[in-house]
Amino acid sequence: MPLGNSSAVLPAAQQSPIAAEVHRGLTARPKTLSPWLFYDQRGSQLFDQITQLPEYYLTRTERELFAAHAPAILAAAGKDAALTLIELGAGSASKTGILLRAALDQQPQLTYRAIDVSASALEAASQSLSREFPTLIIETRVRDYTHGIGHLPSLQWPNSRRLVLYIGSSIGNFDPLDARELLRDIRRQLAPGDCILLGVDHAKPLQPLLAAYNDAAGVTAAFNRNILTRINRELGANFRLDRFQHRAIFNPDESRIEMHLVSTCAQRVAIPALDLKLTFSDGETIHTENSYKFTPESATALLASGNFTVTHHWTDPWRWFGVYLATAV
Ligand code: AVJ
Repeated sequence: MPLGNSSAVLPAAQQSPIAAEVHRGLTARPKTLSPWLFYDQRGSQLFDQITQLPEYYLTRTERELFAAHAPAILAAAGKDAALTLIELGAGSASKTGILLRAALDQQPQLTYRAIDVSASALEAASQSLSREFPTLIIETRVRDYTHGIGHLPSLQWPNSRRLVLYIGSSIGNFDPLDARELLRDIRRQLAPGDCILLGVDHAKPLQPLLAAYNDAAGVTAAFNRNILTRINRELGANFRLDRFQHRAIFNPDESRIEMHLVSTCAQRVAIPALDLKLTFSDGETIHTENSYKFTPESATALLASGNFTVTHHWTDPWRWFGVYLATAV
């Protein structure tokens, strides 16, 4: 057994999770890349800009739902019990403050654990939340929650309950089987009576749906292409950004938005850190994201398949977005 740096004996493609995922995705047919790769520092910034676009109704609508119903949501989750809040994919946690405020209005002490793949986003979130809520106990964890959500805080007092926040339509990135597995995974780490608050985007007319992923300012296109900039920087690749176009379409059979990067010519790309030489034909795509769209029935069924029972849900007058509170059974 060689001592010292074990990375020296690993194949290039396995030296980091990023290297492994890029190797897997770009040697697959059709070519794919997992959306968690979007969220380097620049990608997290671009996503924050997306959430402020006029076309991106998701964040705005969910925030309005929280603003109108946070006390009811927290009362329903925490009746007769003190809550610990755990947020998956917290990002900049820009909507979470509304829920934290409502929780602190109904109990004197609160622990909030935020889990996200982006260290920079978590750092910013934790700073601004500790300023806004001096008594809040904040724990952050930089990790990919699809590999488990970590050991959850133990119950702090009798009748205490955990409320897992999985908001912002993040679950929309997973295909139905993976979404079910993820929910079951979360469920296994909870006790009966613990809750999950799931925010999902609803199916709706094509015009607003497509506009949300094809914004006029081109921020979503920049977000999509940034994945190539990241691969160039971190793996020494030579993707030419002017030769890949952003495309977002709705796939009605799967009820999902798909994002692709379309090669605008026949071309070759090298990724030295992976010992990889790729060829792209004119029009070939890299499939970078799925964003599933639900109905109240499909959201309720998904939660049931993950062993959660929906007890309450909230939606806007247009029913564009839904927030589902479900109990671990
Ligand atoms: C962070 C997965 C909810 O699917 O709408 C936004 C990501 N992609 N614009 C979404 C995204 C393009 C977003 N989620």
